[in-house]
Amino acid sequence: PHVAVLIVAAGSGTRLGAGVPKAFARFAGATVLEHAVRGAFGVGRLVVVAPPESIDEARAIVEPIDPEAVVVGGGASRQASVAAGLAVLEPGIRIVLVHDAARALTPRQQLEAVASAVAETGAGVIPALPVSDTIKLVDGQTVLDTVDRSRLAAVQTPQGFPREPLDRAYAGATAEYTDDAALFAAAGGIVVTVEGSPLAFKITTAADLARAEQEAGDAVG
Ligand code: C5P
Repeated sequence: PHVAVLIVAAGSGTRLGAGVPKAFARFAGATVLEHAVRGAFGVGRLVVVAPPESIDEARAIVEPIDPEAVVVGGGASRQASVAAGLAVLEPGIRIVLVHDAARALTPRQQLEAVASAVAETGAGVIPALPVSDTIKLVDGQTVLDTVDRSRLAAVQTPQGFPREPLDRAYAGATAEYTDDAALFAAAGGIVVTVEGSPLAFKITTAADLARAEQEAGDAVG
């Protein structure tokens, strides 16, 4: 396939407090990584970036689902982990979806929609949701302003890009960026949004893991 899904799963998960890297925390009978890989299976070539000390453990989870998947070790930052995954992509890959394992319940349809939009537009494509809270600009405790919410979006993954400009943007990056789209945009790339899904929320805290357990149960019925 000419699409690759690069699942970054090399984070430590300190904020989750599970005592294991976040990718190996469990809910609804499986690890975060297993849920994420199942959700992405079939969308494209899978590359999983795992904690360097847990590559074998990650392989044991990923290979039964997708024997063709490639598992590599990640880096100290998310950006370094993405770079490690990009480095092992096959030559034929034209579109790369960079996806957080921590967004383990992301509907497959969201990955497919992002890949299609990259193919159609040639731009970077990110799933986004409107912001529902009122957002203030603050300086310490002092409220400076109320931000116009209609101009804000909360963004998720997968973030999709045409492969060559993404490789170039990564090769030239000299700073750490908040997300891949910011890195891509800093290199001159155009980024557009598609509609995200509440189910693509990121598992960060123990409360998020409890929510994932509940959502997974709801989906089964
Ligand atoms: O820490 P955070 O939740 O922002 O991480 C988002 C995603 O990036 C997670 O899936 C995590 O495993 C991954 N990550 C990584 N390498 C790092 C840090 C985070 O692959 N060094």
